[in-house]
Amino acid sequence: MNRMLRTAAGVILLLGIIALPAPSQNNKLAATPPMGWNSWNHFACKVSDAVVRAAADAIATNGMKKAGYIYVNIDDCWQGRRDTKGVIHPNTKFPDMKALAEYIHGKGLKFGIYSSPGPKTCAGYAGSYEREEQDAATYAAWGVDYLKYDWCSAAEVYKAEEMQDVYKKMHDALLKAGRPIVFSLCQYGLRKVWEWGASVGGNSWRTTDDITDDYDHMYFNARSEDGLEKYAGPGHWNDPDMLEIGNGHMTHDEYVTHMSMWCMLAAPLLAGNDLARMKPETLAILTNPEVIAIDQDPKGLQAHVVWQEGPFEIWAKPLANGSTAALLINRGEDTENITLHFKDAGVFGSKKVRNLWDHKDLGQFTNSFAADVVRHGVVFVTLN
Ligand code: GLA
Repeated sequence: MNRMLRTAAGVILLLGIIALPAPSQNNKLAATPPMGWNSWNHFACKVSDAVVRAAADAIATNGMKKAGYIYVNIDDCWQGRRDTKGVIHPNTKFPDMKALAEYIHGKGLKFGIYSSPGPKTCAGYAGSYEREEQDAATYAAWGVDYLKYDWCSAAEVYKAEEMQDVYKKMHDALLKAGRPIVFSLCQYGLRKVWEWGASVGGNSWRTTDDITDDYDHMYFNARSEDGLEKYAGPGHWNDPDMLEIGNGHMTHDEYVTHMSMWCMLAAPLLAGNDLARMKPETLAILTNPEVIAIDQDPKGLQAHVVWQEGPFEIWAKPLANGSTAALLINRGEDTENITLHFKDAGVFGSKKVRNLWDHKDLGQFTNSFAADVVRHGVVFVTLN
């Protein structure tokens, strides 16, 4: 190669390197969707040190930790006042955050917390506005492993187009604080966050407004993610919001649907119920290992809708081991026989079908598989 060519090749190489998106320094975190518990959906502002310890105790002993639930996350309402140096302190419901973190870590679990880039959180507590580095350092000193960062009152102090910079500012502050902290963006899907969430260091980002414990609302949050699958992958996930399983306003079949959809979406699995007082059937839904394996599949693909007819749908996603997961969904009011044509799921020929909820091999099927699906229920299978 002559000198000019070498220089040209060098410039092209350099441009290529510059053009590549900066690898998120958080990417080793959340290689699979984060799993744990968050206080908000059940306790809202009634959260306290005792509530969080009870959740940690439950996870450590009831099989959830073994199933992969690791993060114990306080949502809003833990904040007290800043001292004269501006350091944030918890309110009286949390006497000692560092001690709480140590308690959680002592059980082999991780500790999460919540703030806002605005002056106030959504519930009106102190946010991190103009205190980002100081707060990140405080979190690191306490032993925080996960931060949910919720837009809330930031809308009053920033222009919408500043949102990316605002999230990056906290990401940089977390990096500077020097402790690996999962960064969970919460801004309800504004400004197509899925297009830029990873580039500002997000390990996940909410895609919709808040979930409620209601079948139609839960389905709406999940279904809104169809088409966003290309933005999800190891280290950076679409987040349809925390789980409502066990909070009491859906039927058993509807909660099974909720869990199945979240696993197909490779969504973060943050239980949102009272873990210290849950029914055995709730625990069974949260901890079914074959279903969780679909969420935690190392390939990290998000399912998409491959067939729909009225209230009946089929979602599919390829798995790391070469098999395909398929979810037959009945949103109708009666039991319905739904047929999965393999070709719709990108699968051909003869396949071994396994029912994941029941842990049962259903046999060998060629080109299609049909099953009765109950009202508001699902049949969750792999094709191998
Ligand atoms: C927002 C978030 C919720 C929760 C509350 C807390 O509404 O979307 O998930 O964190 O704030 O105030």
